Amino acid sequence: MVSSAVGARRLGALGTLRAFRRDPLGLLERLAAEGDVVRARVPGADSWLLNHPDLVQGVFVTDHRSFHKGPTIQATKMLLGESLLTSEGEYHHRHRRLIQPLFHREPIASYAGAMVRHATMTSDGWRDGQSFDARAEMAALTLAVVGEALFGIGVGDHRARVVTRALTEALEIFDRVYSPLYRLIVRLPSPTMRRYRRIESQLNRVVEGMIAERRNGPRGDDVLSLLLDASENGDGMTDRQVRDEALTLFLAGHETTANALAWTWCLLSEHRESERALHAELDHVLDDREPTFEDLPRLRYTDAVISESLRLRPPAWAIGRTAIAEHRAGEHTITKGSIVVVSPWLLHHDPRWWRDADTFRPERWLEVDDRPRYAYMPFGAGPRACVGRPFAQTEATLVLATIARRWRLRVRPGALIEPQAVLTLRPRYGVPVIAERRT
Ligand code: HEM
Repeated sequence: MVSSAVGARRLGALGTLRAFRRDPLGLLERLAAEGDVVRARVPGADSWLLNHPDLVQGVFVTDHRSFHKGPTIQATKMLLGESLLTSEGEYHHRHRRLIQPLFHREPIASYAGAMVRHATMTSDGWRDGQSFDARAEMAALTLAVVGEALFGIGVGDHRARVVTRALTEALEIFDRVYSPLYRLIVRLPSPTMRRYRRIESQLNRVVEGMIAERRNGPRGDDVLSLLLDASENGDGMTDRQVRDEALTLFLAGHETTANALAWTWCLLSEHRESERALHAELDHVLDDREPTFEDLPRLRYTDAVISESLRLRPPAWAIGRTAIAEHRAGEHTITKGSIVVVSPWLLHHDPRWWRDADTFRPERWLEVDDRPRYAYMPFGAGPRACVGRPFAQTEATLVLATIARRWRLRVRPGALIEPQAVLTLRPRYGVPVIAERRT
């Protein structure tokens, strides 16, 4: 049963804003302690935190037409423009229909080779006893996979390096300038914003170059060719729209998966029993060869490790919506213009839905599951759920299998590992590890 709402009385509007800037996860936890429907005061909009699977279903599925994307995704328009992630209504529907086939089973199976190959190349570069930041390694790896699988950018292509550097920097800047006051901040002619504009034009040049290449030369089965074919078949997509979709897939397709993998290495390093069970499965199923797409149904524990990591450290830690019509949440009326926040972080740690909620226990995914459906939503829910989910799950499982077959990554003793809730949930200081070769 949904517990009744209370106003978040203890914090004023500015107090809520300050608490959000300082410690967003802490603020969510404080608010959720007050009930499943909590109204918080934030400057500029009436804001509601909804923390129950039935309420999630109401907003994301049953009454999804009453909502648009929330302020954070709206803010990413400064980089991504009008794309699958940021657009609404008929525009979104048309682009989703166009892009969805890239994530059907057959194309995903064809990307598996690139996923394994890049994981092998990355880990072949490590030496036994070497220290590095696993988060940075995973970010470079997932970007290379998206570049090759979706855009046909080969290894060593200088464009991959330009996009990697520019996207990483653009994200850092976005994380820094994003706040409920960002609309004002991005208009200021600050050095940060000037740097941001420079990076943006680098990204545009690379993507525009790739579009021109496809317009004038042979097409393949990559995403740009698909979008350009559509634009020439009367679907009316301009170069700008193609650019927006391309950057969105680059960004959404690597940052989240990189963080998911980085957190997975961290959790495995802390839970040796689970790590042993993972190795046992890999040794049994793969013996002495690389994993393939066809192995996935037998890599059940490996898959469970990823699901559990996404539960405890969901990269999309909060998902926002703006109400464009009135919505009923339990016994409460959410009025048009209000902001609604649902937090996978809160739902995934809630002892009402999870036994030993804070414990990393991949085995739970191999047991009978009688949880409410929307108690777990790392990829969102309803018609706006992640289009890249099959890509992400295949990639995370294959990368984990490929690397864990050969390596243990041990978090460096004394390293401070702390979640930082920015655009995604990332390890604030990276994941410093020491690589140990498995014999
Ligand atoms: C572990 C990895 C990933 C996680 C946790 C994740 C999470 C999410 C979530 C929660 C949403 C819904 C946002 C909302 O409702 O506002 C979303 C949407 C989206 N994701 Fe992912 N994602 C992941 C990987 C990927 C990949 C690999 C791609 C593409 C290659 C991708 C592309 C997208 C796009 C385009 C959308 C917008 C879909 C739409 O609105 O139609 N994501 N993702």
